[in-house]
Formats: sequence, C-alpha cells, structure tokens
Amino acid sequence: MAILKIYTAPDPVLKRVAAPVDTVDDTIRKQMDDMLETMYHDDGIGLAAPQVGISNRIVVIDVEQKQGEDKTGLNRKGNPMFFANPEIIWSSEECSVYNEGCLSVPELYGEVERPASVRVKYLDYDGKEQEIAAEGLLATCIQHEIDHLNGILFIDHLSALKRNIILRKLKKLSKNAEVEVL
Ligand code: NI
Repeated sequence: MAILKIYTAPDPVLKRVAAPVDTVDDTIRKQMDDMLETMYHDDGIGLAAPQVGISNRIVVIDVEQKQGEDKTGLNRKGNPMFFANPEIIWSSEECSVYNEGCLSVPELYGEVERPASVRVKYLDYDGKEQEIAAEGLLATCIQHEIDHLNGILFIDHLSALKRNIILRKLKKLSKNAEVEVL
C-alpha cells in the first residue's frame, strides 16, 4: 500500500466530474487500499478519488475509526467502507447541519445543511451491487464524498461571503506553505 498525495483547492482536479468505473478489478482495489491508508494517515473520515488526483468515482469512508497519536495508518481501522460509482437514490426531507471540514480544504470548516438520511446504491470492494441506508455522520460523509465526484466542495454549499473568506484564508495558508518549502 502507499500514501498518496492529497490535492487541495483550488487544484482543477477537484472541480472535474469524475468518470464511472467499469469494473472493480485489482487495479481499482489497489486504489481503494491506497486511498484508505492515505485517509487514515491524514486523519480523515472519508476520501474521494479526485482528492488524490484520480478522476474516477471511488470513495472510501470509515466513520468508526480509532483516534490516537499513532497515524501509521491501518491500526486506525474501525469499519472501512469502499464505494465504486456511488449514487444517491433517496434522500430525506429532514435536514441536518454539520460543521464540515475537508482534507482538500485544510484547516477550514463551515456549517453545511444536507438531508439527514440517504439511500445509496454502489459497487463494493468485490464489485457486487449494494445498497445502504445511512444517517447521522455517515449520511453527511457519503454526501460530502459524492459531491467530490461531481466536482463540488463543501465550501460550494456556503454563502458567497463565507466561501470568499475561506478561499482567502486558503490562499494565505498556501503562501505560508511556500515559505516553509523554500
Ligand atoms: Ni472532502
């Protein structure tokens, strides 16, 4: 397995609509494994392929992982879930608000309102068709990750004013990062 580079806004790969996967084969499974390890390493609960620069419809999620000092990866494993071509087939009218963050929008957070429950159709790690009913944090996370596959970031759900504040902070952060690199 390998730890992949995380792409951050405003990288254009994050704005692209990702392509569906034909079959879940060994290449895709390797990608899923690498994404899972990267997600644990970088302290995320979900990761979508565009965030590691791959424009296909793959998502990994673990909302039950163990937190801790040790970030070497797979020892954080709680209940890892793998999704290929995930598609929301039902969403509740009831909404919930969560203060979202994103590995591609580092260190910045914003309150996003989304349907509280969803049903999602997808192909699993073995390429089998599955359906899942999600609520709570899992529902929020799945919707956030599917957004990534459609080139949408959580900041796109915020008001223009809040989004601009976040984008300005991001710019500042990346300037600081450049200073450190030099
Ligand atoms: Ni994200």
